[in-house]
Amino acid sequence: MKKYHIITFGCQMNEHDSENVAGMLEGMGYELSEDPYKADVVVFNTCSVREHADKRFYGMLGQFKKRRDESKDTRIVCVCGCMPQQPRVQEEIKKSFAWVDVVFGTQTIGEFPRLLNDRITTGKKQFSITANSTVVPDEKDSKRLHKHKALVNITYGCNNFCTYCIVPYTRGREKSRSFFDVVNEVKKLAADGVIEVMLLGQNVNSFIDDEGNTFPALVREINKINGLERIRFMTSNPKDLSEDLIDCYRTCDKLCKHIHLPVQSGSSSVLKRMNRRYDREKYIDIIDKLKEACPEIAITTDIIVGFPGESEEEFKDTLSLVEYVGYDSAFTFIYSPREGTPAAGFNDQIPYDVKHERFERLNEIVNNCSLKKNEKLSDKTVKVLVDGASSKDDKSYSGRTDGFKLVNISSGRDIIGQLVDVKITDCKTFSIDGILV
Ligand code: 5AD
Ligand code: SF4
Repeated sequence: MKKYHIITFGCQMNEHDSENVAGMLEGMGYELSEDPYKADVVVFNTCSVREHADKRFYGMLGQFKKRRDESKDTRIVCVCGCMPQQPRVQEEIKKSFAWVDVVFGTQTIGEFPRLLNDRITTGKKQFSITANSTVVPDEKDSKRLHKHKALVNITYGCNNFCTYCIVPYTRGREKSRSFFDVVNEVKKLAADGVIEVMLLGQNVNSFIDDEGNTFPALVREINKINGLERIRFMTSNPKDLSEDLIDCYRTCDKLCKHIHLPVQSGSSSVLKRMNRRYDREKYIDIIDKLKEACPEIAITTDIIVGFPGESEEEFKDTLSLVEYVGYDSAFTFIYSPREGTPAAGFNDQIPYDVKHERFERLNEIVNNCSLKKNEKLSDKTVKVLVDGASSKDDKSYSGRTDGFKLVNISSGRDIIGQLVDVKITDCKTFSIDGILV
């Protein structure tokens, strides 16, 4: 049997796109190889959000180029995802990576089987990029990474144009799937043993289908599905977070008591320059309402430091917001200029050492907050959905609580895919230890 291997960079959307690509390859008769060098088809699913992912991708692609130059490598190399959506990268691929066999984008994924077949039968390189498709993709059977949990797309693309962000340029305009398609997909997943779904979109709050069904209505409908135990969603933009969604935390028992609500900055003036279309006060108001509706809610976020023009005062507003909210955890990023976005052209870019120093100060406060939050679980018994075995030893497993906390569990039996009770024994900054009850 021919083999494939997929290397995925970036966010959950990319992870799910890779599951879809894997589903297509298996439909064509390929099977997974854990080793990229033993695969007949290698797919790089790329990310453009920050420079770091760009560099890692070019480095790995270079390795394959070297092998091909030494004539050791006859495998088919494909590149997809966000990077080839950018004209600059398309030029670069044509110039420096002309040897790549198949290139497709975020909006032409469905064409992959045809492109691969054409490459094999004609020997010609295949290139298919669409910049702004208006077609809502037809979701095919994906090959899920986990049996017990699934990623489900509900919207594609983004219309928000935050001034630092490349995503609206790489994933195109926002489109919602139909309410009934999503509900039917989740029903099928639940019937197949899926316990937890993560509803995916750049901004799930702006989900609206042709019949006017909204995101809270979708959550309420999915909450009725038998067999399903947990509903999560990602990502939610504060500017569109409705009272109706906050109410779902009161009424939907399967909705996990967790929200990932990227704030990006605690300063209203920076938020304005970022074009986030909410200010510090509005964000705090949402947080207060969420805490009121669901006192135990875990709150996580994304924060960028060193956005162009960020003053020390503005940065301190971010630190004070972190303290006010008391995040359970946060992804923190150093601002990375992305060519083609407005902020990359702002002329008051922050020097690297200032960005770095702020990043360290922010992380210290975020980590203190995380530890404090984790310590609240000390000696408690919590439900954990077990994702897999720990790499450390064969008696250790890891999974997530309702509040998305990572728990390492010691257990004498295999508990992968199960929702189990765990007694917490030790709380650290980035994870928690416990034993199976
Ligand atoms: N620089 C740094 N971080 C960025 N993000 C998006 N674009 C950039 C950028 N240019 C971060 C945001 C977003 C997360 C997915 O990545 O915080 O929420
Ligand atoms: Fe990027 Fe803003 Fe859209 Fe998120 S909402 S993908 S940060 S433009």
